[in-house]
Amino acid sequence: MDQNNNQKLKDKLKVFFQSAEQAFQLAGNSSKLYELKTRFMGSKSDLQKIMKEMKNLAPEEKPIFGKWLNEKKQALEESYLSLFHRLKKQELEQRMKEEVVDISLPGPSKNQGGLHPVQLIIQQTVNIFKSLGYSVRTGPMIESDWNNFQALNIPINHPSRDLQDTFYIDSDHVLRTHTSPIQVRSMLAEKPPLAILAPGKVFRRDNDVSHSPTFHQVEGMFIDRHVSMAHLKGTLSYFVKTLFGSNTRVRFRSSYFPFTEPSAEYDCSCPICERKGCSMCQHSGWMEIGGCGLMHPKVLALSHINPEKWEGFAFGLGVERLAIVYYGIPHIKLFLENDIRFLEQFSY
Ligand code: PHE
Repeated sequence: MDQNNNQKLKDKLKVFFQSAEQAFQLAGNSSKLYELKTRFMGSKSDLQKIMKEMKNLAPEEKPIFGKWLNEKKQALEESYLSLFHRLKKQELEQRMKEEVVDISLPGPSKNQGGLHPVQLIIQQTVNIFKSLGYSVRTGPMIESDWNNFQALNIPINHPSRDLQDTFYIDSDHVLRTHTSPIQVRSMLAEKPPLAILAPGKVFRRDNDVSHSPTFHQVEGMFIDRHVSMAHLKGTLSYFVKTLFGSNTRVRFRSSYFPFTEPSAEYDCSCPICERKGCSMCQHSGWMEIGGCGLMHPKVLALSHINPEKWEGFAFGLGVERLAIVYYGIPHIKLFLENDIRFLEQFSY
């Protein structure tokens, strides 16, 4: 009876394993195969049901039968695995064939941001002076009266304060009217020789067609032994020619700043009309860039640098003016309006 049972069960299982194997072979794709595996071998499968009948076997037959069954199950498992890998591989190859990227198709369009033209000019300026060995310094926009004026040889009540209409925060603090206080900060904090560049936002009570109450400057300061006007002129000419092209010329006009002596304002030949005269340069052929000069000995001394030993030059660049020339922008107010149609022309 047991013998009979054993054989019957074996036959049933043989049929089961055969049909499982057959079904696996015909699965066609890996997810179908996985489904079949769950159906044939999972916890609710026919296999589990047939296996329950093992309890009717004679106890001594159970281990032998069990061993046989395990081998069969393992063989089915192995055939499932090798089929599964083969199907997966085929599917991957198929996908790779179908999903060929057509690199001639246009990419998805992105709204890409960009830097403001003022920042682009600051970046270029910084790079040019870095190539000459200058390094960048910064300072706060709210400055002490001392750093903004007094240390630069502009005492309280000195008439030259009227040159710069100042926003006062209180009696001792101002919104910096220029980047020159960064010269003072650097001289107090560092030892010469010094070659620094200081870009930043500055503020003046000025508001008309060609002036806005906030604008940007880049300050430069060089302190070493035996520094002359020739070094200053050479440096600024190099800067202008690198930015606008080697044909650009620089012109120095005698001027006055309390912190430099001698002082000058400097212009570059209009890169748009090359000195023929156009509306950008108001038909003068020249564009104003900023002020400069040799550092006043008093300014060095006020920041504890011995003027007997050290000399220097300093300059300030008006960034908006450079950007106007560089990009041919007709109106300074465009820099502040944040009109996306204007700004997006500079994104890249
Ligand atoms: N600080 C001056 C200004 O704002 C420019 C300047 C800087 C002049 C350095 C001389 C030296 O107009």
